[in-house]
Amino acid sequence: MTADDIASAVRYLLAGELVGLPTETVYGLAADARNPAAVQRIFTAKGRPADHPLIVHLAHPHGLRHWACQIPDITWKLTAFWPGPLTLILKKQDWVPALVTGGQETVGLRIPSHPVAHAVLREMTRLAPDAGIAAPSANRFGAVSPTTAQHVREELGCQVDLILDGGACEVGIESTILDLSRGEPVVLRPGPISPAQLALVLGQMPSVLTTADAPRVSGALESHYAPHTPMRLLVREQMRDYLNAAHQRGERCGVIAFSLPETAEKPHSWRQLPSTPDAYAQAIYATLRELDVMGLDVMVTEAVPDTPGWAAIADRLRRAAS
Ligand code: TXA
Ligand code: MG
Repeated sequence: MTADDIASAVRYLLAGELVGLPTETVYGLAADARNPAAVQRIFTAKGRPADHPLIVHLAHPHGLRHWACQIPDITWKLTAFWPGPLTLILKKQDWVPALVTGGQETVGLRIPSHPVAHAVLREMTRLAPDAGIAAPSANRFGAVSPTTAQHVREELGCQVDLILDGGACEVGIESTILDLSRGEPVVLRPGPISPAQLALVLGQMPSVLTTADAPRVSGALESHYAPHTPMRLLVREQMRDYLNAAHQRGERCGVIAFSLPETAEKPHSWRQLPSTPDAYAQAIYATLRELDVMGLDVMVTEAVPDTPGWAAIADRLRRAAS
């Protein structure tokens, strides 16, 4: 990645074109957030319903005041997590295009830490100080988020004008979304920054939204992050019987587990994932994609531990399986 690559990405963005952009969480499909025609192209490329708001990425916390209003004091303390995988929902400024916010009165803002995303944002705001980059995950609506440039090419290749290759995403799952527009902080999407980490700054545990009272957050749709192959979540003790019965029926399974197959388990396409949440998160979407293109009958994923450190991953797996 050279300064020329960054400069040409910024030229594309300022000209209203779409750029595939690496962030530390997942790859984004980026457009100039001030340009409604460019933002419209995001919705078209993704096949995303118009009422699903986008996250606007900024270069610096100074930018908050340009995009948001009625900013609660706690916001400035929470910027300690920036640059990083935390999105804050705030009341939007009147001028912010309704297209960006899905018609809502709030806007999602985040400063990504990936050096490439950060360089593009810095260069863009050097040329256009109030700029922001609207970027949802660079996948077709409802599909698994991309964590490599190749994933973006496979999903949206012909609809993206330029893809910056910043290697595999370090975090691997989407940012935590914290809503600060409701008077009381609420986690709308669990993610890499846990409620306990937020509590250190907030002084209390934030409430975590359950899907029953979910707003228009596309990540809150039950069937989000879904591979095409049907997926089942099983605890390890259920897996052997399930897999052997599937084998008997002539079904081919993709398996994602913490351990290797036991000798009593019939052969299937097996992927062993790490047993720490950070390393698991980094690998899970790429693994789902890899198994998803094998034409398997079903993907069997071992349930992850029911502990706070695994909550964001458990959330994504549950949605992938629903
Ligand atoms: O890690 C991430 O957040 C990645 C990278 C590219 O930054 N982006 C991402 O974008 O995951 P997307 O569009 O796939 O998911 C953004 C989520 C959606 O569920 C959207 O509904 C929610 O953020 N969101 C955005 N603005 C919102 C708002 N004003 N109120 C409530 N939810 C909002
Ligand atoms: Mg997404």
